[in-house]
Amino acid sequence: MSIRFSSRVSQVKPSATIAMSMKAAELRAKGHEIFSLSMGEPDFDTPAHIRQAGIDAIENGQTRYTAVDGTPDLKKAIIAKLERDNDLVYEPNQILVSGGAKQSIYNMLQALLNEGDEVLIPAPYWVSYPDMVRLADADPVILHTKADDDYLIGEQQLRSAINENTRLLILNAPSNPTGMSYGREQLQALGEVLLEFPRVMICSDDIYEHIWWGDEPFYNIAQVVPELKDRMVLVNGVSKAYAMTGWRIGYAAGPAELITQMRKVQGQSTSNPCSISQVAATAALNGDQSCIETMTQAFKERHDWIVPALNDCPGFSCRPAKGAFYVFVDCNEAIAGLGLSDDLALAEHLLEKAGVATVPGTAFGAPGHLRLSFALGLDDLKKAVARIKETLIAQ
Ligand SMILES: Cc1ncc(COP(=O)(O)O)c(C=O)c1O
Repeated sequence: MSIRFSSRVSQVKPSATIAMSMKAAELRAKGHEIFSLSMGEPDFDTPAHIRQAGIDAIENGQTRYTAVDGTPDLKKAIIAKLERDNDLVYEPNQILVSGGAKQSIYNMLQALLNEGDEVLIPAPYWVSYPDMVRLADADPVILHTKADDDYLIGEQQLRSAINENTRLLILNAPSNPTGMSYGREQLQALGEVLLEFPRVMICSDDIYEHIWWGDEPFYNIAQVVPELKDRMVLVNGVSKAYAMTGWRIGYAAGPAELITQMRKVQGQSTSNPCSISQVAATAALNGDQSCIETMTQAFKERHDWIVPALNDCPGFSCRPAKGAFYVFVDCNEAIAGLGLSDDLALAEHLLEKAGVATVPGTAFGAPGHLRLSFALGLDDLKKAVARIKETLIAQ
């Protein structure tokens, strides 16, 4: 029997990051030693006090349905976090807790978009944004950037991309895949453009906020241009900062009327996020924050080592980032030098010849690049980069 699928789902591509991990797993199963620089999650364990809170939640019977939009305790912890770290004040009806930041973004797109609406997405972008926009029947509009601009958009580019169909701009900083971030002045300039177009909403995906070593503090756009707060959906979560990717807790903060619509989407799809994970996330947000510092220092040490090491590889060029755990490498020269067709072929070449898994830039809307994750111990990272270098030299 041939099954007829919806046109909506037919437009969606499977995640390229997952495809590369599967290929790496296949080679590993055949006995090859593979270093994975393709993963999008911290390599640390969830800190002990957070794990214990989860265990206690099970033992205490906190195992039933909760309110669809999150427990009052977790919402309170999120509100306190947003005031403490971002100087932004929210009420409980402006918060929606979801099964990861990804679900928060999905809910928002489902609640906001109609066919014909356009969503501005700066590239390189997180792989899921365009497909999630398509799943909401709207059109992603990609704003391409340059390495010389640290892969960030500027105010001219933003202004010229906005038209009567533009409904939303998605900002993500520090960025997956580049680790780059907007400074205060850049956000001010973008914010001034957005003030001219009151119907354009903004999503600020701050999921990497805490993995940060920029010279100035982290800001999102509503911290710099407070008039935009009522048009902004702030998305964050505990996955990256507290090494809690598997617990699946993220959240959105935004205008109450939009949060109500997003809650409706969640209520008719997945309902409340896991009750046990909500208790653990509450412990993460309310507890000792020094675990973030410990992990971020390790990421920074790896970053400071890997950026010059990759620049020393023939045909590779990359820039220092402000945060996250990725380095985005311009590989155009290496691709040409090896006589390969594109970044997808280069990623395959490195997997097969060097035993190193990376993610091709094409997946992030930036062909000619590779994303390398340094969510891997420094010793393994050094071995992986040495293998990449040997493979590139041996061309
Ligand atoms: C930019 C960005 N936003 C959101 C997410 C989703 O995070 P979560 O695990 O909380 O769903 C990710 C995860 O990789 C990400 O890189």
